[in-house]
Amino acid sequence: MLLEIKTFPNKVLKKVSVEVEEVTPELKELASNMLETMYENKGVGLAAPQVGVSKRLIVLDCSENRDEPIVLFNPEIVKGIGKTIGTEGCLSIPDIEAKVQRFEKINIKGLNENGEETSYDAEELLSTCFQHEIDHLNGVLFVDKLSPVQKLKVKKLLAEMEAQAIQ
Ligand code: NI
Repeated sequence: MLLEIKTFPNKVLKKVSVEVEEVTPELKELASNMLETMYENKGVGLAAPQVGVSKRLIVLDCSENRDEPIVLFNPEIVKGIGKTIGTEGCLSIPDIEAKVQRFEKINIKGLNENGEETSYDAEELLSTCFQHEIDHLNGVLFVDKLSPVQKLKVKKLLAEMEAQAIQ
């Protein structure tokens, strides 16, 4: 089932999400619907707050063939190494892209769709994507992390989105 993606400045995007205590059938279905929504919108990742659910759940697929879905509950970065700067976008902030600094490589752990502990060593796009999605669980958007110059570039577009939401 396709879900509605909440866009900036929806307040749910600023909330800190709560830990998942148990991966219930309902949460498993939510993850599956989030993947469907992500693929439909040609995104590489989606976090639960983006569909209005303040729970620590992310889904992603950074593979070329779009056939390597990842579901992770309570994701946690165990280790981050190095720095990299890449261009990011977000389904909740359409039409804006900007350069963001991230760890180059990370080790990340969490629970898979069956509630089993799992971990990933990620680099390049997958590493960036994990970090972007985890930020969503802490109410942080990529536009919050920009350098002053980058911030200035997107300021007008964000203000326009806010003005439109008020109407
Ligand atoms: Ni995003």
